[in-house]
Amino acid sequence: MFANRTNWDLTPNRLSEALAAHRAEGKPLLDLTVSNPTECGFSYDSKAILEALSNPGALTYEPNPRGLESARRAVAEYYASRSEDVSVSDIFLTTSTSEGYSYAFRMLCNPGDEVLVPSPSYPLFDFLAEIQDVKLVRYPLIYDHGWQVDFHALEKAVTARTRAVIVVHPNNPTGHFAKPSEMSRLNSICSARQMAIVADEVFLDFALDGNRAESFATNSGVLTFTLSGLSKISGLPQMKAAWLAVSGPQNLKREALGRLEVIADTYLSQNAPVQLAMPTLLRQRHSFLEQLLSRVRANLEQLDRLLRRQNACSRLATEGGWYVVLRVPAIRSDQDLALELLTSKEIYVHPGHFYDFPTDGFLVMSLITPEAIFSKGMTGVFELFR
Ligand SMILES: Cc1ncc(COP(=O)(O)O)c(C=O)c1O
Repeated sequence: MFANRTNWDLTPNRLSEALAAHRAEGKPLLDLTVSNPTECGFSYDSKAILEALSNPGALTYEPNPRGLESARRAVAEYYASRSEDVSVSDIFLTTSTSEGYSYAFRMLCNPGDEVLVPSPSYPLFDFLAEIQDVKLVRYPLIYDHGWQVDFHALEKAVTARTRAVIVVHPNNPTGHFAKPSEMSRLNSICSARQMAIVADEVFLDFALDGNRAESFATNSGVLTFTLSGLSKISGLPQMKAAWLAVSGPQNLKREALGRLEVIADTYLSQNAPVQLAMPTLLRQRHSFLEQLLSRVRANLEQLDRLLRRQNACSRLATEGGWYVVLRVPAIRSDQDLALELLTSKEIYVHPGHFYDFPTDGFLVMSLITPEAIFSKGMTGVFELFR
């Protein structure tokens, strides 16, 4: 009765089973994997947010495949505030970055076509690709004085069926940005082989050094789809508001905009109250960014203090984003280490394999964890390696 693409093995792994059992027993948990900003003690201007959601304009339906112009103008102003010139007509509103990926995949790929994804990276890609009948092919990132793309391996991974390269800028969980030299190398590879770039910039604003990283949204050398949204930028994932910005050589861009318009018109995804609230919701980013960076920096400083007191573990360099990668002795598989931390110390961390790290010996922690929990949890992690 069901399509092969939904033949997933949905049996939970040992770690998720143990976590569910731990929670069901009501035991305390130091959760170092939290990623929902609305549950991490940040303060939001609830009055402004709720008022913006009750705009009387929401009583009228004005369907537009790209989304309401007022909302797209707010997105264009977001880019303008970063000195990036993005036209309102090149923006499509979506309900999530995930939906933005699916628009791009539907437009670029026939069933079985390939898309290159970085490894290690964020684990949702597999499902996103499978449900669009797209085949993912991984290109490795190497850690050597910081993270970088292994371009030799990337070029070897390209086949006649490769339609696009995904770049997560900065990447989750490695926290590195694509460097200008990498962007230009990627442009040469993609334009020579008629491949598009899909740039996921949900963490773009969260640079630890406070410097502004260049966006792909104005990349004109190659057909480029830049994805971002309010989930991370304003810490408002519940609003289901994101976008996709198209850039590239004029002829390809025109063709892509026409096709995207049909895809977007088929769904007309975003609802009116959220579109009307977009300018206000986007403005929340200033206060959110400040609180978030202060949390991330405080947690990293505490982590570095704890690291100086031991010599079994180290952390990988990070430039931005919400996560940190800890290099630990590979005395057991990283899944077993995470299980042991859960059962013996009531600490929950993600094993590196969850993000496709090629070997054991990596644990991933969220830097948006409230400071007291992060500090207590990390102290417990280091006790395991004493
Ligand atoms: C790299 C990356 N892209 C996209 C998303 C999801 O964004 P959205 O809520 O807009 O689908 C996440 C969520 O963690 C992410 O880590």
